[in-house]
Amino acid sequence: MPKVLGNLPAVLVDHAHLERKAATSALNLEKYRDLFPRVEELNAIAIEELQHFQLVLDLLKRRGIPFGQPYPSPWIAGLMRSVRNGQRHQVIDHLICCSLIEGRSCEKFQFLATALKTLDPELAQFYASLVESEGNHYATYLLMAKGIDEAEADRRLDFYLELDAKLIVEPNPIPMLH
Ligand SMILES: [Fe+2]
Ligand SMILES: [Fe+2]
Repeated sequence: MPKVLGNLPAVLVDHAHLERKAATSALNLEKYRDLFPRVEELNAIAIEELQHFQLVLDLLKRRGIPFGQPYPSPWIAGLMRSVRNGQRHQVIDHLICCSLIEGRSCEKFQFLATALKTLDPELAQFYASLVESEGNHYATYLLMAKGIDEAEADRRLDFYLELDAKLIVEPNPIPMLH
């Protein structure tokens, strides 16, 4: 984590892209038949993520940090590679991946809120303000998966938690949030 705290501009740019990707993920989930009844909830999440994206962009502007290129996340790519094909399987896997990504954001924001308290109180406050929302997204996606097929969602959650544990120990030299 010192590599993250020592390079806040890169962390903020990465965070902006994280929110942008979170918005597109919510919209992408709307393609699944099983989620047609949840389209308005997904839209609400997409709007919220776009608002977060805008808040990070505002922060970048205030601090004179240029918006830049996103870094690929090996962790997210590793999770998404294991999404299976077939309507039912795919929607459940996709939801669980999104849920874990949101859960990880929630944890990281919580960590940054604490770690930045004295170093950068404005940023600490900003991260603290996002924790609840990302926690809600984590829970919403997980409940959506369970609502489609609870036993299958539980099985896949176990699978993805194991995969997450394997992926997270792989070294990543880039100062990013996940
Ligand atoms: Fe967000
Ligand atoms: Fe989120």
